[in-house]
Amino acid sequence: MIQGKRIVLGITGGIAAYKGAALCSKLVQAGADVHVIMTESATRFITPLTLQTLSRNAVHIDTFDERDPSVVSHIHLADHADLIVVAPATANSIAKLANGIADDMLSTTLLAATCPLLIAPAMNVHMYEHPAVVHNMELLASRGAMFVEPGTGQLACGYVAKGRLAEPEDIAAAIGAWFARSGILSGKKVLVTAGGTIERLDPVRYLTNDSSGKMGFAIAEAARLMGAEVTVVAGRTTAQAPAGVQVIRADSAQGMLEAVLSLYPETDVVVKAAAVADYRPVQTYDQKLKKTGERLVLELERTTDILQTLGERKTHQLLVGFAAETQDVERYALDKLKRKNCDLIVANDVSAEGSGFNVDTNAVQVYGPEGLVEALPLLSKRETAVRIMDVIARRLRAAGGLA
Ligand code: PMT
Repeated sequence: MIQGKRIVLGITGGIAAYKGAALCSKLVQAGADVHVIMTESATRFITPLTLQTLSRNAVHIDTFDERDPSVVSHIHLADHADLIVVAPATANSIAKLANGIADDMLSTTLLAATCPLLIAPAMNVHMYEHPAVVHNMELLASRGAMFVEPGTGQLACGYVAKGRLAEPEDIAAAIGAWFARSGILSGKKVLVTAGGTIERLDPVRYLTNDSSGKMGFAIAEAARLMGAEVTVVAGRTTAQAPAGVQVIRADSAQGMLEAVLSLYPETDVVVKAAAVADYRPVQTYDQKLKKTGERLVLELERTTDILQTLGERKTHQLLVGFAAETQDVERYALDKLKRKNCDLIVANDVSAEGSGFNVDTNAVQVYGPEGLVEALPLLSKRETAVRIMDVIARRLRAAGGLA
């Protein structure tokens, strides 16, 4: 998958810079044309000659060191890269990119680049968990940057904690997997629902749930990275929507139903990650409801089940539901799959530690009509989404819907 790809490898100034050399070597062995950019600080840890020898290309360090008069190096590198990888990425390099600072060869090239970007951070654990670094990484992820998370182990600073650069073979594998996935859904329209619905009682009160939209947005991002045209119908969310997808806001279950149905005929894949209210107040009030007696009894009525409606009207679409369960996960998930006429259902035990609502991780099992298709361990929602989209792509291919 890497053969013949032009990869710009940015190496920044951390002790893990030596692993950048091992990564460079692996990419070259896999057939990539690797062009290395080092920051000045990276050259304190490892020599440019090492990277030049491994990559068989000149190493770029200084923006003003223009060797070829026919091109402007940072623009040329940015324009001709299939992928830019920054490994290791220090807190400083991440902050510069997040904030649009271009004060050296690497940051200038990154700002000029429109190709996909993969970042492999490496730093002390307290730096990695610092709110500023977390914020910068979230910002970059929301703009479409991909991350290979650091591993946990002995750090150069003496801590045994998270922060060491992922192993070069794991970064190379992530790069290979990205090239394998990229574009495989091109021409496909994917519709994702995300977040929780809001069922109004009066102008200031409503019924809702804890869904943040993280899972749905991660699915949308993964589908976009695979080349699909993605629309998200989103209820109430606290997470940031990914770049490059169309977001349609629909607060209530009824609003979400209408938005989804209007897009359904033109859609190839639907993934229903939203937490939709099953009930709404029978009576709603235009004015704020006043206190009267000691008790207030609210009467609720069923909302329309959107997924079930889609299942009934299915023509060519691949329909993927979610099942949020707290017990008997497999039995309830398979029951929903059948009742709602889904092709796949993604079950998550929302009572399990680190899973379900409003966290960054999830542990899901994907079921098809034949039973369990894939059981995923606790992973980041981003990684979970990529693995769910892999299952979806395999189903589309098996059904003859993919080249
Ligand atoms: O948003 P996050 O904070 O990241 O949390 C993610 C999540 C926990 C919300 C997500 O992983 C998840 O489980 N989503 C489905 C939540 C849900 O409503 O599950 P359910 O088992 O009640 O519903 C089953 C399926 O029917 C779901 O696909 C749901 O979207 C759909 N449904 C339910 C009711 C309804 N009226 N219409 C529907 O379409």
